[in-house]
Amino acid sequence: MKRSSLCLFLSMILAGCSNQDTAMNSVAPNLYPDQASLGFKQFSKQCSSCHRPPMPNQHTDLEWAGVVDLMQQHRAQAGYGAMSDGVKKQVLLYLQAHSQQGESS
Ligand code: HEC
Repeated sequence: MKRSSLCLFLSMILAGCSNQDTAMNSVAPNLYPDQASLGFKQFSKQCSSCHRPPMPNQHTDLEWAGVVDLMQQHRAQAGYGAMSDGVKKQVLLYLQAHSQQGESS
């Protein structure tokens, strides 16, 4: 599943998919689930400063709780400032809604 989306993504780039990808910066548009949600907006904002935001189905619910806590520490250490409780919760809920368990692929 991951591999095939990556191939799709790469072939879009290679095909030079014209001007449709002007909005493509750190977050690759067509791959992340539920992009219209507030959770996704927070996720793409909070999780793109240091690396490409991870795919939500890369971890389970439980793992995400740990990862987000860890990233909170990274943010603080890097001087980005910690996420507020509300923001952190939104990000976590987004990730968990599309996590490895949540997705029946
Ligand atoms: C301040 C910089 C920074 C921000 C912002 C950041 N990360 Fe990270 N992230 C790192 C660093 C450094 C690593 C590699 C070291 C590590 O794993 O702790 C990493 C690694 C990861 C990994 C791979 C490790 C694993 O267990 O799979 C995931 C997934 C991840 N980050 C998710 C996130 C998410 C989700 C967010 C948003 C809440 C986020 N990151 C925001 C710095 C950051």
